[in-house]
Amino acid sequence: MKLAVVGGGSTYTPELIDGFARLRDELPLSEIVLIDPDEHRLGLVAAMAGRMLARAGHPARVTASTTVDECVAGAAAVLIQLRVGGQAARDVDETLPLECGCVGQETTGAGGLAKALRTVPVVLGIAERVRAHAPGAWIVDFTNPVGIVTKALLDAGHRAIGLCNVAVGFQRRAAAALGVTPDRISLDHVGLNHLTWVRAVRLDGEDVLPEAMENHAEELAEAAGLPVELIRRLGAVPSYYLRYYYQHDQVVEEQKAGPSRAARVAAIESELLEMYADPAVDAKPELLEKRGGAFYSEAAVALIASLVGDRGDVQVVNTRNGGTLPFLDDDAVIEVPAVIGVHGAAPAPVDPVEPLYRGLISHVSAYETLALDAARNGGTDRVRAALLAHPLIGQAALADDLADRLIAANRAHLPWT
Ligand code: G6P
Ligand code: MN
Ligand code: MN
Repeated sequence: MKLAVVGGGSTYTPELIDGFARLRDELPLSEIVLIDPDEHRLGLVAAMAGRMLARAGHPARVTASTTVDECVAGAAAVLIQLRVGGQAARDVDETLPLECGCVGQETTGAGGLAKALRTVPVVLGIAERVRAHAPGAWIVDFTNPVGIVTKALLDAGHRAIGLCNVAVGFQRRAAAALGVTPDRISLDHVGLNHLTWVRAVRLDGEDVLPEAMENHAEELAEAAGLPVELIRRLGAVPSYYLRYYYQHDQVVEEQKAGPSRAARVAAIESELLEMYADPAVDAKPELLEKRGGAFYSEAAVALIASLVGDRGDVQVVNTRNGGTLPFLDDDAVIEVPAVIGVHGAAPAPVDPVEPLYRGLISHVSAYETLALDAARNGGTDRVRAALLAHPLIGQAALADDLADRLIAANRAHLPWT
């Protein structure tokens, strides 16, 4: 089986390769095509990937290309994991909103909108190239903001599924804590990408979350980055991205005091690239664990194996709502457990969503609709509307000010400016 990775020059790629090597029985790959416009990084990462596979005795060959073209022909899946503008653009997403008293985050709030504006046109262009050269391929989107990008792909008629490591990370950690294999754990995980709550943790079908709330609330709270009393009161575990809502002002103060995540990541990346350049390095460096991508290779392997092999198992993915959450538009993209097979993802039924979560999900889903409209069609007024609709912004003068600032700062990446 052939697989293509767009953004293959990412420092994350060895995480993927490590998973491909470990899970070769689940996903037998014969060729991995890494695609990246940055020739230098691509060369380093492709060589590193080749060494990792050789060390593992994996038969797949690694090829590299700077463009999405004939090289994707015959690929069963194309993984898209890119970051338009790199860490420099991310740094703006994380710092510019702070000047207006808003959280600085690359997927949440104004920063997330800026990222969507930069990213959607690029990903749609790539998807057209994929459609031309590998019409049957599944597009697996890891590119943030995953919910908005996945909706853009689906609206354009692509065979796409969005993926994030938050759910798989929770499942794997829960399994480890319980001393069981991950396949015995299923989650009631509901919401939108980076806006989810785990309401049940089922071990062989039986919910063990109430017991965990009794005896391990501190660990659950720590995973969410939220106060233990809040977690107990909710009886559910919010993803750590909910901290940007539930503790917005506190996060802003913390962010003002420290370096941005982009700055930290840039330092980690240059260290990683130095390691990848060393011909003696042929295993995933420990340093990669300082990045947020834990388990993402396992999520990718499981998803592609089920799409191609029609396994019909349940995985948490980003896909069309289609009535699953009745309070959202049918064409909204949601993040829920879904049955995965050759026809794609079919969301499993979801228990009614409590008003406490439903309100925020609805609010952010409506924002995502407007954000995608702005990303596809451009224009200051559309950017203002999306910001006005966002629950973390919502005031007219603030939305207008942020719109002007983020458009000015991202001009080089916005096709309509
Ligand atoms: C988690 C999120 C990803 C995000 C990443 C950031 O894995 O699910 O969507 O891209 O964290 O990690 P970083 O190391 O770049 O801060
Ligand atoms: Mn994610
Ligand atoms: Mn079928």
